[in-house]
Amino acid sequence: MKQFISVKDVNDINALAAKALTYKADPFMHRTLGADKRMGLLFLNPSLRTRLSTQVAAGNLGMEAIVFNVDKEGWALEFEEGAIMSGNTVEHIKDAAPILGNYFDILCIRTFPSLKNREDDYSELYISQFIKYCGVPVISLESSTLHPLQSLTDIITIKEHMLLNSPLGGGGKPKIVLTWAPHVKPLPQCVANSFAQWINAWGEADFVITHPEDYELNESFTKGATITHNQDEALKDADFVYVKNWSTYNDYGKIYENDPKWMLTNEKIQLTNNVKVMHCLPVRRNVELSDEVLDSANSIVTQQASNRVWAAQAVISEILSNK
Ligand code: CP
Repeated sequence: MKQFISVKDVNDINALAAKALTYKADPFMHRTLGADKRMGLLFLNPSLRTRLSTQVAAGNLGMEAIVFNVDKEGWALEFEEGAIMSGNTVEHIKDAAPILGNYFDILCIRTFPSLKNREDDYSELYISQFIKYCGVPVISLESSTLHPLQSLTDIITIKEHMLLNSPLGGGGKPKIVLTWAPHVKPLPQCVANSFAQWINAWGEADFVITHPEDYELNESFTKGATITHNQDEALKDADFVYVKNWSTYNDYGKIYENDPKWMLTNEKIQLTNNVKVMHCLPVRRNVELSDEVLDSANSIVTQQASNRVWAAQAVISEILSNK
């Protein structure tokens, strides 16, 4: 693997997920793979899980990981080619990225979208400029439109659950539902786009997306899924439900409605096949997901977040081995 920006960088999703679960069983089996190598984790936005799980994963492989909160500690970076830097930006990515590429063997980067200009956000300017100028493999810690480490984790968690706990016994196609949920502020489409992209590429589920009218995602990610505005219909017999808010894609970055009836409750869970409830976290309790669901046996959000380590470890390992 040369980089990890989207599912397109993965040859075999099942093999990568299996590798992650091997690391979960034996975290230190490759404890020297990353010896004498250094990874830089650059954050232009906040993080709890991504930052810490990736650091832990690098440590398990014997690799040093250094975090740099660019947004708080670094110079304000300019990403536009040919910019006249007479405004607030202090350093061009063209100057900063090659230096970072000399300091580190792998660079990991988190950026968020502006949610103001769809064309700019969906061009993935920030991460593309890092890749263009840094000269070393790049791992996305979430970009303007995608969150691949989260999505790999999600598939690992679903597969793990199917193998270990599910009545499906590891066989059969699970019904997986991605449902929109209310939120108090406009959020990126990254997690939803990425989950849809990975589940479609995986191809081993009956995949349904449900959201209110006008919350359609970019079709390039959702194509292949069944899409409905009827949440109850979507939830019927579901094995896994992924709860996530996103802002509007077409009239970009807006909140059109926040009807609390879209929040998942125990009553709705009765429609499902004793569904396992997933969320990438952080979650707004009793806005996106009710306490009763989050604190119930149906919720696997802690298991899911814990699996972030193994997803990151599998990806770093593939890049270190250049497989
Ligand atoms: N799910 C996720 O990416 O969490 P953080 O924002 O805390 O990293």
